[in-house]
Amino acid sequence: MYSLRRLPPLFINAHKLNAAYSLSVPTTRRSMATMKALVYAAKGKPTLEERPKPTILKPTDAIVKMVKTTICGTDLHIFKGDVATCDTGRILGHEGVAVVEQVGNSVSHFKPGDKVIVSCITSCMTCSNCRQGMPSHCTDGGWALGNTIDGTQAEYTRIPHADGSLHRVAETASDDAQLMLSDTVPTGYECGVLQGKVKLGSTVAIVGSGPVGLGALITSQLYSPLQIIMIDLNEKRLSLARALGATHTVVSGPNVVEQVMQITSGRGVDTVIEAVGIPATFELCQKLVAVGGTVANLGVHGAKVDLHLEELWDKNITLTTRLVDARSTPMLIKLVESGKIQPEKFATHNFAFGDIEKAYSVFGAAEAHDCLKVVVNF
Ligand SMILES: NC(=O)c1ccc[n+]([C@@H]2O[C@H](COP(=O)([O-])OP(=O)(O)OC[C@H]3O[C@@H](n4cnc5c(N)ncnc54)[C@H](O)[C@@H]3O)[C@@H](O)[C@H]2O)c1
Ligand SMILES: [Zn+2]
Ligand SMILES: [Zn+2]
Repeated sequence: MYSLRRLPPLFINAHKLNAAYSLSVPTTRRSMATMKALVYAAKGKPTLEERPKPTILKPTDAIVKMVKTTICGTDLHIFKGDVATCDTGRILGHEGVAVVEQVGNSVSHFKPGDKVIVSCITSCMTCSNCRQGMPSHCTDGGWALGNTIDGTQAEYTRIPHADGSLHRVAETASDDAQLMLSDTVPTGYECGVLQGKVKLGSTVAIVGSGPVGLGALITSQLYSPLQIIMIDLNEKRLSLARALGATHTVVSGPNVVEQVMQITSGRGVDTVIEAVGIPATFELCQKLVAVGGTVANLGVHGAKVDLHLEELWDKNITLTTRLVDARSTPMLIKLVESGKIQPEKFATHNFAFGDIEKAYSVFGAAEAHDCLKVVVNF
């Protein structure tokens, strides 16, 4: 990994001075620099506002200038008022590709000018949860950006614990592909494929062919399962799933269990990945899992669900839940660089940042617009 220690001394001094300067500039002068930002103004109201440009607050911070960002289904949940931790007035966004503009004195792995992927998870790397491999539950981070602190849908973003929360991009891979490595693909891979223990010659069903389900689809193929069955209500998303390697697709409906049993010769599937987050799909997963199989839930559930132990108690199944840790991002960057996975195919719509309110309305009615993932360019 690149280290500042390798830089010529003059350069170090210049940028450290810069960081120190920004720490000491009086608030009145700092606030003169403004930027445009997408704000959770009120329920259902994504609003582009003029905001003060962020500054370094702690020596472990970096300020990044955004190059690309995107909108996540979770942002739509925020606008419905479903995310209690996110207050109105918050700048949203937890995904992005950016260029480092400024770093605090303690940042050692990044320097101004580095092009980076912003992880959706902020990691201090030292708390007990980070050390146990769960930065999603970092006691001074986790899912903070665009939730408890201002996020990436702005011209500039402050990244706390920059060393643990940024990744240098692969210069030879596209920005669009790497934008999907902030959250979408790591979630499908870590919470679906790894938790679900997808393995050679096994069978997989992925319920939900949205960006995250598709992230699970492209990364489950790295383990050569025999069958990957994608299930969704939306035929267009299923046809993309076939193009991305699904061996079977099933339109969700009254006969879905029958169809999956037919495909798997009555066994059910070894790994069922829940990538929707509603009671009906969690119920479905329990009906599809084979004896000895795993249900890997990654969907965010806002309502109570039933677990049918009366059916499952003797089936030797495993049920897993997980918040994405985005620890796999460095490995996924290599896979993107080598062309082994091509998540840029998830990007269906492009918008200029000035049109991000329109991007929200298109993404919010994704089905009507055949939209999967929007790329917002600065
Ligand atoms: N665990 C985590 O850390 C984590 C991180 C990011 C996202 N998520 C969650 O992952 C889930 C998927 O995210 P996404 O961005 O792909 O969402 P999405 O809304 O774009 O996709 C969900 C898909 O489910 C399909 N669907 C809806 N009802 C269905 C049904 N009854 N049967 C089959 N398919 C149905 C929709 O047509 C859609 O294609 C969401 O719940 C999201 O909040 C979890
Ligand atoms: Zn997200
Ligand atoms: Zn931590």
